[in-house]
Amino acid sequence: MKEFYCSTKIVSGTGAIAALKDLGARRLFLVTDPFFTRNGTADRVAKAAEAPEVEIFDRVEPDPSVALAAEGTVQVKAFQPDVIVALGGGSAMDCAKAMAYFSGREIRLAAVPTTSGSGSEVTDFAVLTHNRVKYPLVDPRLRPELAVLDDSFLGQLPPSLVADGGFDVLSHALEAYVAKNASPATDALARDAFCTAFANLPASFAGRQEVRLQIHNASTLAGMAFTQAGLGLCHALAHSLGGAFHVPHGRLNAILLPSVIGCNAMAAAGKYARLSRAAGLGGSADTVAVHNLKNGLIRLRREMKLPATLAEAGIQPRQIWREMDNVVKAALADPCCETNPVKVEDFMIRKILEEVTGRG
Ligand SMILES: NC(=O)c1ccc[n+]([C@@H]2O[C@H](COP(=O)([O-])OP(=O)(O)OC[C@H]3O[C@@H](n4cnc5c(N)ncnc54)[C@H](O)[C@@H]3O)[C@@H](O)[C@H]2O)c1
Ligand SMILES: [Fe+2]
Repeated sequence: MKEFYCSTKIVSGTGAIAALKDLGARRLFLVTDPFFTRNGTADRVAKAAEAPEVEIFDRVEPDPSVALAAEGTVQVKAFQPDVIVALGGGSAMDCAKAMAYFSGREIRLAAVPTTSGSGSEVTDFAVLTHNRVKYPLVDPRLRPELAVLDDSFLGQLPPSLVADGGFDVLSHALEAYVAKNASPATDALARDAFCTAFANLPASFAGRQEVRLQIHNASTLAGMAFTQAGLGLCHALAHSLGGAFHVPHGRLNAILLPSVIGCNAMAAAGKYARLSRAAGLGGSADTVAVHNLKNGLIRLRREMKLPATLAEAGIQPRQIWREMDNVVKAALADPCCETNPVKVEDFMIRKILEEVTGRG
């Protein structure tokens, strides 16, 4: 039996930020990173919510730690907000979700993503780091009540963030499409998200603002798909490497995704082939279509100037060899392995790492 639900209200379009005032916040706690307080965006968002009392927590860093979320939770308990708004990328949204959750209070949660990547605005996930290990927390209480997809926050996105986030969207959609808990509803969302992102990322990378709302919407659709269908080996390994080496999450997905397709190809050939054809990459025989999908992603990665190996991303091969056992252990323990189409084994992770290590 398959089931599907999505309880988050999604408001999308230029100027969608005005929807925040409908929450009727009395005491608003805004969670963001310093970039958005410095450029005045945090104040603009607080103003849109029209709350009489506002407190801003702007210490979020990329790949937020458990300790930072705990500090924020103390502040939440002291301020006693009725609404928390997350403003930023996956890091700010995950931090805000964890703070609301750990405060143990009934707090309404809204998310305003400023990157098109994590999909965190609609997911039951929050990823926090502790002792160089990334832990994906999974609980329906982490899902925001409102997601505001407003492309007026994307104007300053540099090409590198378009590329990193873009490969996060593609990997969410692709992994959800072949995941063990995929359903007809998640398949439709994942397929549309993949095709939209794949077709429009080059234009967004080149700075064309008019396609950015489409990719923003695709990011949310991919989030709706994977929060129900699950993810897979690409994310398990990206979490493990991201915790150990602090490389942007989407960039790690870009490096890993083609090898993960190779690894899962025997079990998921039919679905990979359908996705390849839907994205216009063709291939009448499934094996050819899977090959085209892999190569299409490699071409897009090159076009968006993303690294092909961990060495190109700044991780030296000797660091990989030194940390190999810990990286493999953390990846195997990651909950994303559970929904990979093939049972994940130690040797598969080591083979992928060998393929993507590169030369120092
Ligand atoms: N909860 C989930 O469902 C989920 C899913 C995937 C990834 N994640 C997590 O999300 C995090 C990655 O999130 P991310 O890729 O969105 O990046 P991020 O939130 O870590 O932000 C990266 C950088 O981009 C900057 N930035 C954000 N928006 C900007 C804008 N509009 N213009 C200019 N700069 C901007 C930030 O200031 C920051 O320095 C990782 O920790 C990853 O593990 C969570
Ligand atoms: Fe991701």
